[in-house]
Amino acid sequence: MADLRLVELSAATIVAVNTLSLKPGQEQFLAPVSYGIAATVSNPQTSWQRVVLDADEVVGFVSANFDPDAHEEHFRSVLWRINVDADEQGRGVGSYALAAVLEEARGRGMDHVDVIYEPGVGGPEAFFERVGFEAVGETEYGEIIARVRV
Ligand SMILES: CC(C)(COP(=O)(O)OP(=O)(O)OC[C@H]1O[C@@H](n2cnc3c(N)ncnc32)[C@H](O)[C@@H]1OP(=O)(O)O)[C@@H](O)C(=O)NCCC(=O)NCCS
Repeated sequence: MADLRLVELSAATIVAVNTLSLKPGQEQFLAPVSYGIAATVSNPQTSWQRVVLDADEVVGFVSANFDPDAHEEHFRSVLWRINVDADEQGRGVGSYALAAVLEEARGRGMDHVDVIYEPGVGGPEAFFERVGFEAVGETEYGEIIARVRV
């Protein structure tokens, strides 16, 4: 825990990021439909991602998109993906990664970060509420749009 740090995605970390494990039942929450659709039109220049290391071990991954010109408001400053390895969940890695997203958003002049998630048992809703997100709407697919001020 004391050794958490962020590094950029690289050839050295991408395999570990792609094999971060999930707890049973979490798979369905990883990529809400709205994100899958938006990803096909997202601009790589506005995306930001970091790998979370504990000592030298990859324990998490976080990505966001900051695009003031995005067509839909909830994609202008948005947490795209946050994923902590199953064995490392529940000890502050997610909060640490989220703090980095908020700092990045602030640095880019954003006053909030949005997230879209699917509600349901085993999903990330309790985490997002605990770290300060509040529901502000719903997508056409029944996903929750939540926002935290930075
Ligand atoms: C959601 C996720 C990123 C949370 O990461 P984490 O490292 O376990 O979270 P933290 O340990 O930093 O928890 C922060 C707070 O949220 C709470 N919390 C986290 N997950 C929770 C859950 N499932 N239920 C209730 N509370 C939860 C913690 O108890 C903690 O509260 P505290 O500050 O009072 O101690 C992680 O569970 C995960 O990777 N899930 C699978 C992928 C996913 O669904 N991602 C979101 C969609 S992209």
